Amino acid sequence: MKTIVKQATEPHAYEEAAALLAAGEVVGFPTETVYGLGAVATNEEAVAKIFAAKGRPSDNPLIVHIGTMEEVECYIEEVPEKARLCMEAFWPGPLTLIMKAKEHVIAENVMAGLQTVGLRMPDNEVALTLLRKLRQPVAAPSANRSGKPSPTEAKHVYEDLQQRIPMILDGGATGIGVESTVLDVTTDVPTILRPGGVTKEMLAAIIGDVFQPTKLQAEEKETPKAPGMKYTHYAPNAPVLLIEPDAQKIIIAIEKLQADGKKVALLAMTSLRQQAANYFFSFGETKDEMAAHLYDALRACDATDADVILAATTDEDGVGAAIMNRLEKAAGNAYFK
Ligand code: TXA
Ligand code: MG
Repeated sequence: MKTIVKQATEPHAYEEAAALLAAGEVVGFPTETVYGLGAVATNEEAVAKIFAAKGRPSDNPLIVHIGTMEEVECYIEEVPEKARLCMEAFWPGPLTLIMKAKEHVIAENVMAGLQTVGLRMPDNEVALTLLRKLRQPVAAPSANRSGKPSPTEAKHVYEDLQQRIPMILDGGATGIGVESTVLDVTTDVPTILRPGGVTKEMLAAIIGDVFQPTKLQAEEKETPKAPGMKYTHYAPNAPVLLIEPDAQKIIIAIEKLQADGKKVALLAMTSLRQQAANYFFSFGETKDEMAAHLYDALRACDATDADVILAATTDEDGVGAAIMNRLEKAAGNAYFK
């Protein structure tokens, strides 16, 4: 299958993408977080193509994207008050709300056998225009092959899924760079199942108490509530070792790894660039830039012959929680010692 990449600004780009989706095909499209691989969420066969194209385990449910607030009622039996407050405050935006789904509306393979569905309205003009033209809910995971970093540019989607999907709608680089916050609002105290662009602090200001499990708590659960948590994710080819953002420590680590005959790729803020590193990829200057560049930098490492990736950490305030969650996954929690 030939994969067509179309700029959203090209004539008929939206019409073509919407027509493919309506016909039960999958299409790659941008959101404000990462690129998604979409299919109409009420069409089981179409949704099955997402799992096939990505190589994604079928017990990992998908997020459903909507273009208008009115649609919520079509898929959710009873919208909890706290969910409503979150929608008013953060939609469109990088917040997925897990709620009890109406029966027999959303395709079963979207929810992977659960009773709940994750809904979000993306804050991206291209995504919203597409959704509003299509007027149907779109199930979409990140548009990478399973186990690869999420795509933040159309070319990443192409790298991973060329020949496997008919079309990618190119809307340029996504802004935030890490996936949406997943918030379970089926419990009295809502639980953050995945940290993202809408932070715990921002949520707490609107709905009060929010539970964000520690790494240990998230790993201890036998049946993780966000089934995605149990899969190794975002892993580049070379092993990743985390290190504090401290120039001295980084220099010592590079020397030690190189003394063992290893080529080192360093990922860090621009101010921590080290000449000694065999490769350097910048996270930018600020935490927001770090989120935006994280996956691109991890992907860039895959294009090198580095034997090890040394990645500088950040604190867990604000979007730092999401960054560290993804970095620790990429590293399998391994720190340079
Ligand atoms: O920013 C994003 O959320 C991107 C863009 C494309 O919207 N999408 C994304 O989808 O990251 P994906 O499939 O890579 O991650 C969805 C996460 C998974 O961890 C999944 O387990 C969880 O959301 N999830 C989806 N539905 C769920 C449900 N009903 N209950 C619990 N977790 C759910
Ligand atoms: Mg993903």
